Amino acid sequence: MRSVIDVPDLSLSELDALMDTAEDIIARPDDYADACRRKKLATLFFEPSTRTRLSFEAAMYELGGNVLSVTGAGTSSAAKGESVADTVKTVSCYADLIAMRHPKEGAALVAARNASVPVINAGDGGHCHPTQTLADLLTIRREKGRLGNLTVGLCGDLKFGRTVHSLIGALSRYEGLSFILISPEELKVPSYVKNDHLKKNGIPYQQTTSLEEAIGGLDILYMTRVQRERFFNEEDYLRLRDSYILTPEKLKKARPDLCVMHPLPRVNEISVAVDEDPRACYFKQVLNGKYMRMALILMLLKEAGKL
Ligand code: NCD
Repeated sequence: MRSVIDVPDLSLSELDALMDTAEDIIARPDDYADACRRKKLATLFFEPSTRTRLSFEAAMYELGGNVLSVTGAGTSSAAKGESVADTVKTVSCYADLIAMRHPKEGAALVAARNASVPVINAGDGGHCHPTQTLADLLTIRREKGRLGNLTVGLCGDLKFGRTVHSLIGALSRYEGLSFILISPEELKVPSYVKNDHLKKNGIPYQQTTSLEEAIGGLDILYMTRVQRERFFNEEDYLRLRDSYILTPEKLKKARPDLCVMHPLPRVNEISVAVDEDPRACYFKQVLNGKYMRMALILMLLKEAGKL
């Protein structure tokens, strides 16, 4: 039973096929309106979410399927002390597919090993978030026309930001990529991400604390929120939270075809005035995420012999 815990679970040709399916869904939504009729997706969200859960649910509804939902650890048997393993064994009796978000790194892997239906990781602690990366890849491909030969700036909380970890893993497989990693000293990309993806694939990267110095050379600027919920003390969070704020003034130094991305939710990292700039792509990412989740649901249900 194939699950998707992180992006390397999908081959490059599968990523291409998912993007092609998403484009086809965008062009011909009616062709997919009954594709998952009588199938059920369970969304198990033990951490806050707006976009990821609702886009999974909208995706399943737009495929003609149904949704079962648990939101918040406090409303399910997790609150009584049930393990992730027992929860997903149970949910496998009701649903054809599970999308799960959990505060603990590795929880999605435990779920996949115990479920008898495919599991999609919708974010496990500060580890990874593959379906956000699917949204990001489609956005880059649509905006730039390619996924290779790009200089990508990642800015903000690169330590705890799981979307960044998955995006580095995905983009490191394309040709001609280079990264500028922009973060405070305390929030640098973890060594395991650098070793497993950047160093292993010989991808050029630089680390800097200055957004102003880096911005002029970028094709993509991926801003992130400082992940308050993963800090051990509030003081550090308060000191670091406003390290980077993208403003129209800072964007004057950027290329005219820069693509500004953010997985959202935004706190202060991008001033609202930037939303008017044609280079702002973060709300397009939201929509692309729904189409990529539709494509992924179709792929996994087909592979599981359910369609
Ligand atoms: C991200 C997440 O949950 O990791 N949100 C999302 O799914 N779009 C980013 C974040 O919370 O900062």
